[in-house]
Amino acid sequence: MGNSGRFITFEGIDGAGKSTQVDALAQLFRGVGRTVLVTREPGGTALAEKIRKLVLHDAMDPLTEALLVFAARRDHLVQLIEPALARGDVVLCDRFTDSSFAYQGGGRGLDLAVLSMLEQWVQGGQAPAGGPMRQPDLTLWFDLSPAQAARRLAAAREPDKFEAQNEAFFARVAQGFLRRVEAHPQRFFRLDADRERALVWADVEAAVRSRGWLE
Ligand SMILES: Nc1ncnc2c1ncn2[C@@H]1O[C@H](COP(=O)(O)OP(=O)(O)OP(=O)(O)O)[C@@H](O)[C@H]1O
Ligand SMILES: [Mg+2]
Repeated sequence: MGNSGRFITFEGIDGAGKSTQVDALAQLFRGVGRTVLVTREPGGTALAEKIRKLVLHDAMDPLTEALLVFAARRDHLVQLIEPALARGDVVLCDRFTDSSFAYQGGGRGLDLAVLSMLEQWVQGGQAPAGGPMRQPDLTLWFDLSPAQAARRLAAAREPDKFEAQNEAFFARVAQGFLRRVEAHPQRFFRLDADRERALVWADVEAAVRSRGWLE
């Protein structure tokens, strides 16, 4: 089973260390001969990257924000992710739908039923409607306290619209992730992100290796 397409997502609040680990995992897979697509959300395609700019920098109500991130996701899935998985490639995606449930659901307070409907539409089978949903094969959840994440980001860069939110917002986002983990326990792998990079990396590698995906 080593050569089928694999869809692995990286999730967690801003500053948890997701982007720091993506490239190393790509190198690990390439080292065993796999073709790897490294991508991110919102974004990944030209259209979705345009939407990303709007979502990260323009003020809008929560439903508008959710519609935009799911529109970007649809384009990303259709243009990039599904074709890569069909070729048998490994897809590493920095954020995916769990972030929509965490940020627009938990952080912004949007009705989770609306998000579930969008998830079904955007990730549902092509035809007939209501086919099986596309979901990640594995989601690496970088679990870091909002206070710790804020300290990292303060040292790192200019904040975007989300990063400028207060700690209470991130506490709600973290709760949003936790709800998803509880709803999809077999898909998630929790990483204690409050450790030095090398130790977090060891767990990332172990999560993938234990699934037999590096053989
Ligand atoms: N294990 C770690 N220990 C300490 N600092 C770290 C660790 N991992 C990453 N960092 C640093 O913390 C900051 C945030 O890391 P990174 O950009 O990977 O987070 P992220 O989860 O991708 O955040 P965002 O969601 O905002 O993109 C960076 O400056 C990074 O160098
Ligand atoms: Mg990042």
